[in-house]
Amino acid sequence: MVTCRTMRVIVVVLAAVVGVVYGAHCHGQPNPNAPQNLLPVNTGEPELVATHANGKLFRAGTSEGSFYVLHLWGTPYECGVAQGTLLKDEVKAFVNGVYAYIEDQIDLALNSTKPGHYVPHWLLNDIAEFGIDAALDLEIAATRPWTPAYFLEEIKGLADATGLSYLAIERVHLLGELTKGGCSLLSAYDSAITSEYSLLGVRALDWNTDAVFVDHAQVTVYHPSGDWGKQGPGHAFANVGFSGFIGSFNGVSAANTYSQEIGVTFPDETFGKESRFGIPFTYLLRDLIQFDETIEQAETRVRDAKRTCDLILGFGHLGDSDGEPFRAIQYSASVANFFNSTTLMPLTSWHPRMEDLVYYEGDWLCEQGDVVMHRQLAYAHGELSPELVIKNITSVVATGDTFTSVYGFRHDGQHALYQAFARSSSESGPDPAYLRQFTKLDLADLWAEAKPTL
Ligand SMILES: *[C@@H]1O[C@H](CO)[C@@H](O)[C@H](O)[C@H]1NC(C)=O
Ligand SMILES: *[C@@H]1O[C@H](CO)[C@@H](O)[C@H](O)[C@H]1NC(C)=O
Ligand SMILES: *[C@@H]1O[C@H](CO)[C@@H](O)[C@H](O)[C@H]1NC(C)=O
Repeated sequence: MVTCRTMRVIVVVLAAVVGVVYGAHCHGQPNPNAPQNLLPVNTGEPELVATHANGKLFRAGTSEGSFYVLHLWGTPYECGVAQGTLLKDEVKAFVNGVYAYIEDQIDLALNSTKPGHYVPHWLLNDIAEFGIDAALDLEIAATRPWTPAYFLEEIKGLADATGLSYLAIERVHLLGELTKGGCSLLSAYDSAITSEYSLLGVRALDWNTDAVFVDHAQVTVYHPSGDWGKQGPGHAFANVGFSGFIGSFNGVSAANTYSQEIGVTFPDETFGKESRFGIPFTYLLRDLIQFDETIEQAETRVRDAKRTCDLILGFGHLGDSDGEPFRAIQYSASVANFFNSTTLMPLTSWHPRMEDLVYYEGDWLCEQGDVVMHRQLAYAHGELSPELVIKNITSVVATGDTFTSVYGFRHDGQHALYQAFARSSSESGPDPAYLRQFTKLDLADLWAEAKPTL
């Protein structure tokens, strides 16, 4: 397994030896002289690869960085069948590969002196007693009552089209609950950004760059219709992740909303306790991006959810009527707190507030990361654009090795997603996404893609 900052992991383990890690900080300082990303953004159109009655598969990018763009139309079950049909081999390889990855993480945990760092203690106890499959199924049972039916219907469609077992697919969707990525997020508006833009969002995932993930890089664009339950189908949205994974790590929608997420390994006492009972956060993030059209709706959803683990989430909405267009969310089983740039927490010398800008690097208590992020943002404040974020922020802060998404909302309405993934097994060039070529996807084009008339 390749993690973004090995030092950080070592210190996590040491900190865990003394038990509670409140007050402990993440470590593994980004190299302050890390290179900029000077590759021009690719603006080439994605190329059509295959079609299905409810799906269109495109390949975006160049040899310096490419990924699938998969459009899906219809009900949850239809979306599942379309993805499972167009990407049968990829979905099978991903699901089997992630299962092996979870097994490895458990092995690693059982071999280590502090197993709880790798996977939650409750899972290890269940594994010792019942074995891995039954332990994962107990975890499913702990989240099922809070899992909306449309996720299960989509998984059923994936299973029917690929021949994978339903349970095998559902098990790997616990991934987010079982392992945690370090990550960073940034949102900037008004005085912080260049004049053509009204809102910028960035979500960088620092996690795992094994082939199982980087070889299945995908942006999935849903055009939901038909029966999605009592909320209706919601709006079109683009979900950044992997072939076969239907939860969300971050995404952007036709309602001009976007989402972000950071795993928290170093909380302070304000987080309270974690819980295994509740909605898997990757499902909650997808609900935010599919259904909510204002910050108030997103706040209500998060506040009312049965939440599980410690996270920082972000939700942005262009032109929101309720003050600033973005909230950072301190998220745990016990609390849901919402911050704008003037109330951002934690408030410390190394995580100072900035005007019209919200940022976190690495974790909640992550002095080393925040110092470098803040320094780069201070240089760029007032001039921030997607290009400058790619050139001088994510690259120099060295964040987003698995993938990095930049959302740019412009005054002229030409909104775009700038996306890069880590180097896949068949590509050349640098490994981490933040040093690779980004591809710009025009959001209006994504939402307007026509359903096949097969
Ligand atoms: C765990 O330990 C066993 C036995 O020593 C070894 O075979 C295995 O490779 C180790 N697994 C990991 C992930 O370190
Ligand atoms: C920021 O949040 C605080 C607390 O919710 C609120 O009082 C304030 O008006 C918000 N500021 C802006 C500019 O939206
Ligand atoms: C880019 O970052 C460097 C330091 O890494 C800094 O000197 C420079 O001012 C930054 N440029 C902008 C436009 O932010």
